[in-house]
Amino acid sequence: MKIALLPGDGIGPEILREAVRILEALRSDGLKIETEEAPVGGAAYDAAGDPLPPSTLALAKSADAVLFGAVGGPRYDTLPRDKRPEKAILGLRKECDFFANLRPATVFPELADASTLKPEVVSGLDIMIVRELTGDIYFGQPRGITGEKGSRVGFNTMHYTEPQIRRILHVGFRTARQRGRRLTSVDKMNVLETTQLWRDIAEEIAPEYPDVELTHILVDNCAMQLVRNPRQFDVLVTGNMFGDILSDEASMLTGSIGMLPSASLDANGKGLYEPIHGSAPDIAGKGVANPLAQILSMAMMFRYTFGLADVAGRVEGAVRKALASGLRTADIAAKGAKPCTTAEMGTAVLKAL
Ligand code: IPM
Ligand code: MG
Repeated sequence: MKIALLPGDGIGPEILREAVRILEALRSDGLKIETEEAPVGGAAYDAAGDPLPPSTLALAKSADAVLFGAVGGPRYDTLPRDKRPEKAILGLRKECDFFANLRPATVFPELADASTLKPEVVSGLDIMIVRELTGDIYFGQPRGITGEKGSRVGFNTMHYTEPQIRRILHVGFRTARQRGRRLTSVDKMNVLETTQLWRDIAEEIAPEYPDVELTHILVDNCAMQLVRNPRQFDVLVTGNMFGDILSDEASMLTGSIGMLPSASLDANGKGLYEPIHGSAPDIAGKGVANPLAQILSMAMMFRYTFGLADVAGRVEGAVRKALASGLRTADIAAKGAKPCTTAEMGTAVLKAL
């Protein structure tokens, strides 16, 4: 198992370090793991003038899986767009064709109180957001800002091809099949043609999955339903932009964005694994970030790329145990309770493992 480690910026290196400690433990336990690290994002821009240097991209392509921290920071926000850290993650997704993004939102029983929503609304929550990652308004052409000050125009293009829509919908149906067999496709067909096509194709594919119940929902209503009654959902499938927004919203149901892992898969099961949160520059370097989304992303790597559900389960079980011990980083700590550090949380997971 060759794993590329891309720590990135902000809290990325701190949280990835904790995941790597667990990898090391699994290696000494007999798993054949090989790792290689490379700079990405702002760190790569600083080192090489390029947020996604060719050597980093080559490593990602040659590895079986990529374990990714986070990228970005205010220091880089004024750079030209193609030099910004975000370009690295978008480039990796596109270049490696990691089109299928799985973002589970599960509420750990220990954390039902951590959400800003009432425990009776979120407890037992278990939904999966399947987000398309290589198309949509993120990549559509033309795009840009033109004109003179006073009459400038900004424009982006929402764009999806039928093959792009089909393959992500198939991932949605297959994912639903392995879970509660209910698939909700999210669109904005009342306004946007691109998503009318999305809905039409979903209807065309549905007969291939007679065991899965397909429903459609408009994205604005979906955003509302997620906070009104999130447990009505099993699997949500949607485009790049809507998925970005809805997955951040869903993270808050679980108590903290610091808890949510993700997998981004290509057609062969190779994948990039990253927390859905960002680089959190405000707390970077303080040793207080929550490493659990990163550790849980690594667990997803064992499940989806390496087919080692038992190892994934062990890591997830260890996270549960660490939480059950009462340990909480600041983002999930109860008011007035003393939060633990990034490393203390990592150590607790390691011990539980
Ligand atoms: C995410 C992030 C990225 C996205 C950013 C960092 C480009 O918000 O993975 O959700 O918009 O996809
Ligand atoms: Mg996002």
